Amino acid sequence: MSDKPRIFLTRELPPKTMELLQDQSVLTMNHEDRYLTKQEIMNGIQGVDGLLCLLTDVIDDEILAANPALKVVANFAVGFNNVDVDAATARKIPVTNTPGVLTETTADMAFALLLDVARRVSEGDRFVRAKAWHGWGPLQFLGADVSHSTLGLIGLGRIGMSMVPRARGFSMNVLYWNRTRLAPSEEASLQVTYCELDELLQQSDFVSLHVAQNDETRYLLGKREFSLMKPEALLVNTARGPIVDEKALVSALQSGQIAGAGLDVYEREPLLESELYEMDNVVVAPHLGSGTIGTRTKMGNMAAENCLAACRGQLPPNLVNPQIYD
Ligand code: GLV
Repeated sequence: MSDKPRIFLTRELPPKTMELLQDQSVLTMNHEDRYLTKQEIMNGIQGVDGLLCLLTDVIDDEILAANPALKVVANFAVGFNNVDVDAATARKIPVTNTPGVLTETTADMAFALLLDVARRVSEGDRFVRAKAWHGWGPLQFLGADVSHSTLGLIGLGRIGMSMVPRARGFSMNVLYWNRTRLAPSEEASLQVTYCELDELLQQSDFVSLHVAQNDETRYLLGKREFSLMKPEALLVNTARGPIVDEKALVSALQSGQIAGAGLDVYEREPLLESELYEMDNVVVAPHLGSGTIGTRTKMGNMAAENCLAACRGQLPPNLVNPQIYD
């Protein structure tokens, strides 16, 4: 029998990652282009050392119980809200993620949505394709200025921080709210201003979400928060859907409490609140934040290295629950 680690992969990853896994492990995997059911994941992890899974796989205690010898849950994402980390920790199973490699790519996506919704690019595209355009007009598709506007960043971790130079390129005034405030010298060198959340919502022309999903951030933006925003404000969410109360967002958009939204993530992916499909002032992308071939390859290789290391009994480089070794 091979002494290579046995790994179960829940969906095909980019070619270079597949080569790495095929070379370094005994790999079993889902070959279909669809999510696996819970039962299929439980069957898949029988007799393996490591599970390499995606943000769409909900890994709970029942799944972990299906293979008490499992040595690692390696998530192909920086977010790990899909894994019950407490349950894994109680079972002393390392959980890993893919931080850092998708930072710039995700910030690019947030900026793409911001620009799109502000300048009505997707809406104009639909209009042209519908052959409804009969020539240039001075009042057609007037959007919002991005340059010199105020951007409110909710969360200033890696991705939020990466928004700052992008915003600077558009001469934007940057406000931020974060669990921990930067030192005054850092705020000065980055030229960002700390605000309490309510104040940030009141003052920003664009609000972009960059916090992780957890118990504290679920529904961080709801009815009350939308009522604080400017009627011309635009919301961008490339973080996680459940950070926003999607029904409250729809009401705020319908009543004109806010002007529009650029969304990459949703409360119940792949479903959206039905009204969102019809709203012209909303740009909806299918969770593409980290979606470039380069970045997905780096994420795949990182997840594979994490998985292989833990299977070999080594400390995986991107461990999210180091307390298992206490
Ligand atoms: C993508 O959404 C990620 O968390 O990596």
